[in-house]
Amino acid sequence: MKIISLCLFAIIAFGVPAFAAHHDEYPVSTPPFSEGIFPCSNCHAGMEVNAKRRELKDEHTNIKLHHAENERWCLDCHNPANRDKLKLANGDTIPFTESYLLCGQCHGNIYRDWKVGIHGKRVGYFKGGKRVYFLCVNCHNPHDPKFKPLKPEPPPTRPERTHGR
Ligand code: HEC
Ligand code: HEC
Ligand code: HEC
Ligand code: HEC
Repeated sequence: MKIISLCLFAIIAFGVPAFAAHHDEYPVSTPPFSEGIFPCSNCHAGMEVNAKRRELKDEHTNIKLHHAENERWCLDCHNPANRDKLKLANGDTIPFTESYLLCGQCHGNIYRDWKVGIHGKRVGYFKGGKRVYFLCVNCHNPHDPKFKPLKPEPPPTRPERTHGR
């Protein structure tokens, strides 16, 4: 696991887990990307950044922003310089596995509830006895997050994960 190897690296290199003081990290489910979309840099590395608010015509035409869209646009959440990362309001970049930090900036109460398991969902992961948190985006579309009761039960399950329950 990446977090574990990073952690080991930090312990070996610095004697202490370097991220411990950095910010909260939780074991989470896989970000629910569409097939083939990640890494974003496959296309975006070398592509010019177009920060203009506009209707996208050449790509991502399925994304219709409906999330406080009058106050913000794509690059308030996506990092223009490296599209494989998200961007917080303070300019820090975070991986997609920590998108809850992005959401938590504005939905602080829900984020607190999520951390303690009141909002959202956690499942025991018996191999290694770890708990896994579902990301906010496993249940809410970040571009149009209002919960749609007609959607099928989130999150998408994969066989290897169902077995861990
Ligand atoms: C509120 C923050 C936010 C805004 C605003 C936002 N995004 Fe996203 N976007 C996210 C997050 C978080 C994810 C990651 C979802 C996941 O983990 O699978 C994402 C995922 C994506 C993906 C991958 C989608 C897929 O099919 O897997 C694309 C492409 C994308 N965003 C493009 C855009 C574009 C273009 C805009 C503007 C029209 C935009 N985003 C606006 C937060 C945002
Ligand atoms: C297949 C190539 C491709 C992939 C993969 C891709 N993009 Fe894009 N993206 C584009 C193109 C082309 C545009 C410009 C579309 C337009 O202007 O109509 C764009 C535009 C955007 C924009 C609007 C801002 C800008 O710079 O134009 C955002 C935000 C964005 N992409 C995010 C993402 C994210 C996040 C991912 C990965 C989760 C991703 N893209 C993956 C091709 C891609
Ligand atoms: C910059 C502040 C900001 C960020 C970051 C943000 N949101 Fe929101 N969100 C809002 C605002 C403001 C609204 C209410 C307006 C609207 O629904 O368009 C909202 C609405 C919502 C709703 C609908 C609430 C309802 O009434 O049903 C959900 C769910 C939600 N956000 C989830 C998320 C998730 C998940 C993320 C992270 C991917 C996120 N938000 C990131 C500001 C934010
Ligand atoms: C397991 C699925 C799941 C996860 C994970 C999840 N949510 Fe929700 N969320 C829901 C459902 C279902 C509702 C609708 C509840 C209702 O209508 O009573 C909801 C409602 C909301 C609302 C609107 C309700 C309100 O009280 O204003 C916001 C905002 C929100 N979620 C944000 C988040 C954020 C931020 C995260 C991550 C920190 C998150 N959610 C994680 C399923 C989830």
